[in-house]
Amino acid sequence: MDITPPIDLTTDNFHQLLADRGLTAEQINARDGDPFSEMNLIRRAITHARKTTPFIYRNALATLPETTTWIRELVQQAHAEQTRRDAITPTITNGRSLLLLGPTGVGKTYQAYGTLRALAVTSITVPWIATSSADLYAALRPRAGVDSETEFRRYAHARLLLVDDLGAAKATEWTEEINFRLVNHRYENQLPTLFTSNVLPKQLADRLGDRVASRLTEMCDRVVITGQDRRRQDAA
Ligand SMILES: Nc1ncnc2c1ncn2[C@@H]1O[C@H](COP(=O)(O)OP(=O)(O)OP(=O)(O)O)[C@@H](O)[C@H]1O
Ligand SMILES: [Mg+2]
Repeated sequence: MDITPPIDLTTDNFHQLLADRGLTAEQINARDGDPFSEMNLIRRAITHARKTTPFIYRNALATLPETTTWIRELVQQAHAEQTRRDAITPTITNGRSLLLLGPTGVGKTYQAYGTLRALAVTSITVPWIATSSADLYAALRPRAGVDSETEFRRYAHARLLLVDDLGAAKATEWTEEINFRLVNHRYENQLPTLFTSNVLPKQLADRLGDRVASRLTEMCDRVVITGQDRRRQDAA
């Protein structure tokens, strides 16, 4: 593992998340020369979070009680696993998933990225992958020069995965198969996954198929976000 260079804490609100943990910019950027130090792990995770978070969610905060609990449990589990394995760093191995449901614009994706950003300051090493289901299908579409199975495994095996907008696209046999294989792999291996969907809870089985919906029910803590479309509210 490399030493991550000092990070600029004036560009977004990571300083706030760090302050909540009692950490200052000086502490985060202290040169201790240890790639496994907690501060280097946090610098690394923040750098990864900045690279993978879309601009509009760059200051997103996880504000729901369920997201807070989920993060706490993942971190506890990572530390317990570190002790059990006598590992150098706390790493996510397995755990529960989270399903954020709600209509358009209520803040599902915001909460999902807020959750990933909050995890970045906890010092657990988790190079997550974030995708929307539409981008996932595009990445997996068979085409010359790309091994779709290798691509699929990258998502299926990710230590932590965000799948945004599950069930948003019009289903085809092929997208149904991708959804099933992905959810089934994450389910069988209890790999923590953040799913968002604007499908109504009672329509999940209809829209995603009974077998996907059944697995999601068992593996996920479900959060239904209500309210108005914030995009239209902001525009008003
Ligand atoms: N708690 C919040 N505080 C401030 N801004 C928020 C909050 N939640 C959402 N937003 C903003 O509201 C807008 C809509 O949020 P978001 O994109 O997360 O909605 P969504 O539920 O994912 O919608 P869709 O179903 O269309 O994907 C975005 O501009 C987002 O940054
Ligand atoms: Mg969204």
